Amino acid sequence: MAKGSIGTKYKIHFEPGNIDVDVEQGGNLLDAALLAGVKLNASCGGTGSCGNCKIIIEKGTVESTRTDKVTEAEYQQGIRQACQTRALSDLRVIVPVESQLSKHSIIHKRKQTTTVSRDSAVNVAGRQFHPPFQKRYLELVPPTLQDNTSDLSRLKKRLRQEPGLKQIFIDFESIKGLPQILRQQDWKVTVTTLELPDDPGITPASQIQLVQTEPGDTRERNFALAIDVGTTTVKAQLLDLYRGKVISEYAEYNGQAIFGADVITRIAYCTKPGGSKRIQSAVVNTINNIIQCLSIDSKVKPVEIGYISLAGNTVMVQLLMGIEPKYIRLSPYVPAASSLPTVKAASLGIRVADHAFISTLPAVASYIGGDITAGVVAAGMDKTERLTLYMDIGTNGQIVIGNSDWMASAACSAGPAFEGGEIKHGMIAVEGAIEKCTINPANLEPEINTINNQKPRGICGSGLINIVAGLLETGIIERNGHFHTDIESRRVRHSIDGYEYVLAYAGETQTGKDIVITEIDIANLIRAKAAMYAGLMTLVKSVGFKTGDIQDILIAGAFGSFIDIKQAITIGLLPDLPTSRFRFIGNGSLTGARLAAFSIDFMMQAKKAARMMTNLELSENGDFMNNYMAALFLPHTHIEDFPSVKARLPEGNTRSARRY
Ligand code: FES
Repeated sequence: MAKGSIGTKYKIHFEPGNIDVDVEQGGNLLDAALLAGVKLNASCGGTGSCGNCKIIIEKGTVESTRTDKVTEAEYQQGIRQACQTRALSDLRVIVPVESQLSKHSIIHKRKQTTTVSRDSAVNVAGRQFHPPFQKRYLELVPPTLQDNTSDLSRLKKRLRQEPGLKQIFIDFESIKGLPQILRQQDWKVTVTTLELPDDPGITPASQIQLVQTEPGDTRERNFALAIDVGTTTVKAQLLDLYRGKVISEYAEYNGQAIFGADVITRIAYCTKPGGSKRIQSAVVNTINNIIQCLSIDSKVKPVEIGYISLAGNTVMVQLLMGIEPKYIRLSPYVPAASSLPTVKAASLGIRVADHAFISTLPAVASYIGGDITAGVVAAGMDKTERLTLYMDIGTNGQIVIGNSDWMASAACSAGPAFEGGEIKHGMIAVEGAIEKCTINPANLEPEINTINNQKPRGICGSGLINIVAGLLETGIIERNGHFHTDIESRRVRHSIDGYEYVLAYAGETQTGKDIVITEIDIANLIRAKAAMYAGLMTLVKSVGFKTGDIQDILIAGAFGSFIDIKQAITIGLLPDLPTSRFRFIGNGSLTGARLAAFSIDFMMQAKKAARMMTNLELSENGDFMNNYMAALFLPHTHIEDFPSVKARLPEGNTRSARRY
């Protein structure tokens, strides 16, 4: 053990990246990585339970708490969990590829623009193009000795002549430079207004606020952002509000991921000293990075972005806004606010125009956030008479059922398996993730597809569903998720984690290690799908329907878009209904945020929809527990509820294992 006196500092050198950082003697290596900006996968938030933060100590002395996440062989190679390891000397640390939170691979640009016409007669997904953030060009009558009212009175008088601007509120900041601005281009100015929509039944009319005055005609430079703040990734679109189009799009990991993969871990992190501030800064930095990327791509300066329309789950929004989140996870699970007032972006440290405000899509409950309201309204669920089910499948599963007359919602914690968490070789859906897999029933050999056709690096959620469905259909595993032990295939073997199936051998992978799916992984996926399905069944029954009554099922979320419906039914994640009833709607949250920036009507509809949704709390619901227990089989304890799967399985997968 290295000696060191109190106050001794050690230098930690991280590779790849050639990054040095100083830590106190005994400093935690996960904290050191955070300090150094090294993006380590720490999905459990540092509790030691996920095993994703493994590093290799190439040089130097450390002290480690040993957990079952590090095998004896790994330990001998110098592999440690960063969160369980403390520095006792200068160190050289290698972060292996499987422990890195890759950043660039999820960033994508969209060159194709989505255009809606400025013509107010043309609709934005059925609504009038009417951005809440607008620029108007005005020519004022200059003052004279006979008419020497103040600059502001003159401006207000002219504004009142504009349609819909009888009453206007003035933001003090917007008039600071008014005398020069009015005179700079001979009393010709562009004024920017922000309209806050009325809340049917709550506020009687929209409020309009003057937020900026500029010399000359600047109407063509009117930009906004639509942002989806997801637990795993943050996605944004840069919008041209003059032409009504998307100019550029970017996505990046939510910087909070280094504090934990799910919302509960992040709320827990906020209880640490300085935790809330660190967690808020992490997502603000992510948003600022995205703004930089959008700006470089589009040649629009960040200071030209005057408005942000934002959707996210309730926890993400509260963390971004710096609002204490702890009561969200304590019974009776109350959020700070369903509908937040607008807030100045600058007050949160978001680097756009000083006058830019953020409007947030309204939430329903602690676990049914503005992301769901945005998606439900964007998908038109509040306008249809058909009985519709909306599902956002992920770590936090969210489900809404109803139509234009009524809606009910429920949320369930499925755990991180759908996003690759708590899966031995799980990863999120980035380059190199196995996203598809077919198992040949004749020889039990897999055929795998990876994202961007890279060498495999791990398994993402959609791949996991494919693999488990394939293992079930070929009879390699039983309906309880256990391997048939007498299968004769080089792919099926017994290891320290029990039985496993080899998807790719070391020589074929990026990591230089075999990629396998273990019996423990399968059990984790079964628990995740059981939670989603039980949530769905409990909600559907609570409103007096059966799954067969559902006319349309809308699958939302980036992960959802890549699910193979048939195989999701095979494992019992989705009900056994004709595939024609399912529809992918993509990222409903981002679409909703964009539509809210293009049309004030959208925000009004979202507020109405949020108020009409009745939320069913599942965490203390007895029916949910019963449904959950029944769903802990593939596809389900009651296979009769899955007739198409029953017909596909080898004799209902009740026969004894085959020999090959
Ligand atoms: S095991 Fe270290 S962060 Fe999860």
